[in-house]
Amino acid sequence: MTIGIDKIGFATSQYVLKLQDLAEARGIDPEKLSKGLLLKELSIAPLTEDIVTLAASASDSILTEQERQEIDMVIVATESGIDQSKAAAVFVHGLLGIQPFARSFEIKEACYGATAALHYAKLHVENSPESKVLVIASDIAKYGMNTPGEPTQGAGAIAMLISKDPRILIFNEDNVAQTRDVMDFWRPNYSTTPYVNGLYSTQQYLDSLKTTWLEYQKRYQLTLDDFAAVCFHLPYPKLALKGLKKIMDKSLPQEQQDQLKENFEKSILYSQKVGNIYTGSLFLGLLSLLENSDNLKAGDKIALFSYGSGAVAEIFSASLVPGYEKQLSQTRLEELDQRQALSVEEYEHIFFAEAELDAEGNASFSGYEDQNFALAEIAEHQRKYIKVEKSS
Ligand code: HMG
Repeated sequence: MTIGIDKIGFATSQYVLKLQDLAEARGIDPEKLSKGLLLKELSIAPLTEDIVTLAASASDSILTEQERQEIDMVIVATESGIDQSKAAAVFVHGLLGIQPFARSFEIKEACYGATAALHYAKLHVENSPESKVLVIASDIAKYGMNTPGEPTQGAGAIAMLISKDPRILIFNEDNVAQTRDVMDFWRPNYSTTPYVNGLYSTQQYLDSLKTTWLEYQKRYQLTLDDFAAVCFHLPYPKLALKGLKKIMDKSLPQEQQDQLKENFEKSILYSQKVGNIYTGSLFLGLLSLLENSDNLKAGDKIALFSYGSGAVAEIFSASLVPGYEKQLSQTRLEELDQRQALSVEEYEHIFFAEAELDAEGNASFSGYEDQNFALAEIAEHQRKYIKVEKSS
């Protein structure tokens, strides 16, 4: 039996901030962002678009009615949770109309969470082959105004349907994880934005990559030669490029090195326009690769490097299934270009707005007509989500 990714969906917010505008407003050389970080734009989410609505939207875009009856587990991986107790997955389960006899829960370890969720989903399908598991990575990355991380913010969700006989990628049995207790990036419960040791975090990312990759090669007798592409966690694409250079095997034929570099370029196209979406970033890179590379074929192996601050890293691989391209979109870049551009003032107002509750814990919201799902109100401290009806 093969198990893997049967479908992948993506959702982001309707607003975009151009980094050229942010650079001008902050008095930074725009090339520092476009060349130094390899970023162009960031998705900006309003108050009515949170990890639940993004997760529901990414999933709704791929699921049939039958699949909603077959899914028996919904996992949302996130580090921007909206409640300390109730899992975002429970809201998402309801919004999507998934059959009731399902297990729904949230999982967290910074940007690594979705990788753990995929592994758990795989084990579940191994035990219960008719099951389908919906794994969603949904996050809003908010560092705050005038912080070093500001140009690397973002918002988005990736939904992956995990099943037997998958139509996109088959998981290989080759995971290697590494945990190290470090304080490179963390967000205490009392803070809406993370604390970041920026330079240290990049060193931890790169060192986790190097050491996990060495262990992976040792355990599975695999080298870069075995892979058509490597996807990386993308806090910002330039760091992943450094990662690729770190593990590049200079003894590989030039043609193969070129293919890996070309595929890397394809894997960063979406992130360059969306920013960091934390848990979903690695899989947004994978989606970008699959939808934009013209040199991949069935059977090709793709290596994935997951990194979550704190820190947990993992390397694993998956193999392409014949006909995988039929499950993908050809219009994603055009759709991203349809987002509404915000001025820096609008971004500051919209992205950092907080719900203003009355004494009973009520607030109602508007302006979500263009969203698929929305946080419509908070009533007595309960978040009320709706599917937005579209007038035809
Ligand atoms: P910074 O202030 O942009 O740092 O902050 P910098 O001064 O080192 O500049 C960045 C690059 O721009 C450098 O290139 C400069 O040379 C270049 P590099 O030396 O690295 O190749 N540069 C220019 N290039 C062209 N023209 C210019 C110019 N000026 C400078 N004029 C920092 C960078 C990472 C610290 C900041 O963005 C930050 O704090 N980000 C947030 C933390 C982060 O993303 N860390 C990444 C690793 S941790 C991780 O991946 C986990 C995470 O996703 C969270 C989670 O797991 O939940 C973050």
